[in-house]
Amino acid sequence: MAYETITTEQRGSVTLITINRPDALNALNTTVERELGEALAAFDADDSQGCAVLTGSGDKAFAAGADIKEMVDKPSAEFFQEDFFSGWNEMTAKTRKPWIAAVNGFALGGGCEVAMMADFIIASENAKFGQPEIKLGVAPGMGGSQRLTRAVGKSKAMDLCLTGRMMDAEEAERAGLVARVVPHDQLMDEAMKAAEVIASMAPMAVKVNKELVDAAYETTLSQGMVHERRLFQILTATEDKKEGMKAFVEKRPPEWKGR
Ligand code: HXC
Repeated sequence: MAYETITTEQRGSVTLITINRPDALNALNTTVERELGEALAAFDADDSQGCAVLTGSGDKAFAAGADIKEMVDKPSAEFFQEDFFSGWNEMTAKTRKPWIAAVNGFALGGGCEVAMMADFIIASENAKFGQPEIKLGVAPGMGGSQRLTRAVGKSKAMDLCLTGRMMDAEEAERAGLVARVVPHDQLMDEAMKAAEVIASMAPMAVKVNKELVDAAYETTLSQGMVHERRLFQILTATEDKKEGMKAFVEKRPPEWKGR
């Protein structure tokens, strides 16, 4: 599929998606939003694909935010009537397979928000995260105030949203925003390796694990524990549960069937 603002490539069972507007530091315009939604839907529907990696083209940015040039003269009524940015929510909610953000540089505003939509973040040591919308006279609009607060807590989220400052990869890892920080030149290798590990797992177990961790954000502990037990119990009915446990006992690698 030919896209204008992103590229996609299947490497074995991993789909690599790259935001490809290097001259604008991969700023997220409405075409990126639509094309990324299409690419994630295609990945999710393709049984040969187990995990995706999202990164930004060039060496400088994952994405430096929503496209300010697209928004500068846009009338307020259009933001409202188009339910501007709602496509991002839809694609995140619809994608049942995991995707990893490989953050290679600036992840600011919408860029930080898209990284946080991913299931987890692997950051280059050059990565910089921030929610600088306040400097533009606005506030985050793609989940930044909500997901950042859940990830790093109120104090640091307030600090970042109110001052608009950036935090580096080390601070982001310390704060719990980032799963791993790796040397810049190893970022894509590390992200692809992590994605290959995930893609090698039993497909239903992958979806259930993702759903359960996501549910922890939305529910109480006791409801989440019931949800977890029920999905665990449902997974015990799969052929892959039998195969996984049998393979362990027989000291051989499992052969997943996806059912
Ligand atoms: C459109 C952008 C952009 C953006 C950078 N560019 N960020 N274009 N939208 N978000 C463009 C610049 O205009 C420039 O193109 C080119 O990318 C290179 O950027 P420079 O500024 O020249 O690079 P540098 O000096 O290295 O500075 C890097 C930077 C800076 C610190 C990341 O670009 C920056 O502060 N960008 C904006 C970050 C930001 O505020 N993000 C939040 C956006 S609002 P030209 O052709 O002009 O030279 C958002 C949500 C809003 O995400 C929600 C509320 C409605």
